[in-house]
Amino acid sequence: RAATDYQAEDAVISQGTVATNHTGYTGTGFVDYTNVKGSYVEFSVSASAAGTSALTLRFANGTSTDRPMDLSVNGTVVASAVSFPATADWNTWATRTVDVPLTAGTNKIRATATTADGGPNLDRVSVAAAADTQAPTR
Ligand code: GCU
Repeated sequence: RAATDYQAEDAVISQGTVATNHTGYTGTGFVDYTNVKGSYVEFSVSASAAGTSALTLRFANGTSTDRPMDLSVNGTVVASAVSFPATADWNTWATRTVDVPLTAGTNKIRATATTADGGPNLDRVSVAAAADTQAPTR
């Protein structure tokens, strides 16, 4: 089954801005996290059934330093300090997939920067359906 895309620029943003100053993003822009610990983007993701879903985050990190983030679902951290390592430059996007537990209905999925560098630039998340066993390949 296809994954559903949620654009970061359409999500709830705390300590970040919507930006378009680099190429290769999808949708109408991406989120530029403020360089501060605790900055976050929160997506409202709907799941038809409870279960584990593959969450794929599309990001860019034009620095040489990792930009780790905690991933939480409905207020509970489900993956701590997930690595968002350097990409070639800010125009080069990579994906990182993490399995997360979702409840049936709306889930608040938050990606929070854990260092003073803030998060990477975040383009979107793609969420595979609960029953999918394979992560999206893009
Ligand atoms: C640069 C880059 C931004 C990025 C920022 C950062 O300013 O242009 O897109 O978000 O660095 O370090 O986070």
